[in-house]
Amino acid sequence: MSDTTAPWRSSPETVVHLTAGGVSLVLDAEGPGLPSVLHWGTALTADIDLHPALLRPPRVDNLIDAPVGFSIVPEAYTGWFGAPGLTGVRTDRTGWSTRFALRGLERRDQSVRIHAADDAAQLELSCTIELTPEGVAVLDAEVRNTGASDYLLSSFAPGLALPSCAAEVHDLSGRWSMERIPQRHELTVGAHRREVRRGRTGAETPLVLMVGEVGHDFAHGQVWGVHLGWSGNSSYAAERTMEGHRRLSAGELLIDGEVVLAPGDAYAPPTQFFSWGVGLDELSGRYHRYIRNRPSHVSSPRPITLNVWEAVYFDQSLEKLTALATAAAEVGVERFVLDDGWFGGRRDPTRGLGDWVVSTEVWPEGLRPLIEHVHRLGMEFGIWVEPEMINPDSDLARAHPEWILRAGAGLPPESRHQQALNLSAPDCFAHVRDALEALIAENGISYLKWDHNRDLIEAGDGRGAPAVRAQTLAAYRLMADLKTRFPDLEIESCSSGGARVDLGVLAHADRVWASDTIDPLERQRIQRWTSLLLPPELIGSHIGDERAHTTGRVHTLDFRALTSVFAHSGLELDLTALTAGERDAVAGWITILKEVRHLVATGRMVRRADDEDALWVTGAIAEDAIFSVVCMSRGIEAPGARIPLPGLDVDARYRVEVLGPVPDIRGDGVPWWQDGIVMTGKALGVIGLPFPQIQPEQGVLLRAVRQR
Ligand code: GLA
Repeated sequence: MSDTTAPWRSSPETVVHLTAGGVSLVLDAEGPGLPSVLHWGTALTADIDLHPALLRPPRVDNLIDAPVGFSIVPEAYTGWFGAPGLTGVRTDRTGWSTRFALRGLERRDQSVRIHAADDAAQLELSCTIELTPEGVAVLDAEVRNTGASDYLLSSFAPGLALPSCAAEVHDLSGRWSMERIPQRHELTVGAHRREVRRGRTGAETPLVLMVGEVGHDFAHGQVWGVHLGWSGNSSYAAERTMEGHRRLSAGELLIDGEVVLAPGDAYAPPTQFFSWGVGLDELSGRYHRYIRNRPSHVSSPRPITLNVWEAVYFDQSLEKLTALATAAAEVGVERFVLDDGWFGGRRDPTRGLGDWVVSTEVWPEGLRPLIEHVHRLGMEFGIWVEPEMINPDSDLARAHPEWILRAGAGLPPESRHQQALNLSAPDCFAHVRDALEALIAENGISYLKWDHNRDLIEAGDGRGAPAVRAQTLAAYRLMADLKTRFPDLEIESCSSGGARVDLGVLAHADRVWASDTIDPLERQRIQRWTSLLLPPELIGSHIGDERAHTTGRVHTLDFRALTSVFAHSGLELDLTALTAGERDAVAGWITILKEVRHLVATGRMVRRADDEDALWVTGAIAEDAIFSVVCMSRGIEAPGARIPLPGLDVDARYRVEVLGPVPDIRGDGVPWWQDGIVMTGKALGVIGLPFPQIQPEQGVLLRAVRQR
């Protein structure tokens, strides 16, 4: 992180050059309008000596006579025909087209703060861009109503310009239990706009909307991306205008009337995180380093977790769960998480949500006997909650039907038999907070798996006003309040699996549950693309049953365990149903997961796929390195080619050896398979190693130890 204690100083610069982490961002700040981007990407030297006037767009027939280029908040008066960066109107119908005048600049380290005002529209605008030491451009903005009438804000999304070689859109989509599926296509004239109106980040979140050079991959081709740190409605856009301009932005998608600025009021859109790189690994690596350097980032070795959901579902009992806890401790588990079903009348998904009191029916002696057992075994205890939700069949809904989010008279359609609570109502917020505080304090709970299992539909505050924004902020406040009261508490962000994965919630949470599918084949892809933004130690990944509950596919323990390596690893299966031999095998893998977790949590991630996308290499590289080589499917080429291990220190020598059991992969004819091999990082990256045939849905874990 930068030295945020340095004071802001006003700056006379007309060209602002921010440079850090191998990236430069250069702004034309000559005025009289808002600054625009002259360059974002490759680091430039300090003496760039640019003259903004010479770099402005030329006059072109039949366009405006004196084009000025579009700014970080594009405005129509400049000849920008894409979506304006700020839209809204006053109640007297003025203020819908702005002409912001630059009023001043301030600088601090590699950050700039821009002040502008439009006296006619009676709006003030400020925008801060920090180019962090890792090279991520963090953009925060604010618009203030300085007039005497209300200003109805429709949208506010500053953004950055892209060069014309940014020609291929690349982002993610997905659905429940198949989150974060990549999609890519040409950036044609118009807008590639990704709007999520689910009141949560969404399984189909773009996560990072990128535009890159055509054919960019993990290692090659420049690519520019933006992530929005927000868990409510969002709108991401990559635009290309007929004039040849390109722009990348992401903002909160506001419902009509959601933000009405009274005189003096201000609105700050969610933070945008921009990253650039040559190849996706570099773009992603900047995000990882930035996230890891946040003061709130988890630092302890990530405890091996057992979550009981797929082990018992709603079939909870002291006897069953103490036995499971004993078995968990025996194989090396360090955190035991009790999932849904422990509270109120919640014996199935139709009832009880909102009643955060321990069920006396299931837990006649309360949770203490289980928790004490877990603690005695040396494990932490965590518990599942879904604080923003309510089942209509619950004591809370009967006592406070008015606390349910709704737009008008009728309730929204139910989803998973549930509705959402209006946390923006102070008494509702206080009720939920007090219930959670009591639960945590009385039971010595150190970890919450915080779920959010439905999309918000017609999410109004009950008095008719839209409330997605207020709800999102209230959820953040609730997490923040709990963390203030319980500083050691960790929170996992879960949302029907992986539908709340963003840096907004991760300002408060400590990991995400990437998906409800723990089928390792699906998980390989989900985790690979989730890790585009998040370092692996923030991505929960569990070894499930041999037969995956969501897909019915059957996988070896080795493949299931290997898949949880590049993640915050854990288990989610009924260990008590395994044979002693199977439990030993699980314990063996847990020993390996513990051995490599520090490297996973600190290493630089590299990823490669062959042309067929059939063979995947994933690595974490620090002083030493680990790699997984996984066969996702049978490619058209017969196996036998050498597989490069990329990203190692080219001058160092490494001993590469197989780590962990690989009973299904015979090393016949591969001399290094049994005893390892010493090679330089350069040779490993360029020439690679011959591999034995790896069957589909199998893989191998390798360790590369630097030789001294
Ligand atoms: C969601 C979560 C699951 C589990 C269930 C419990 O679907 O993603 O992991 O906690 O809720 O109802």
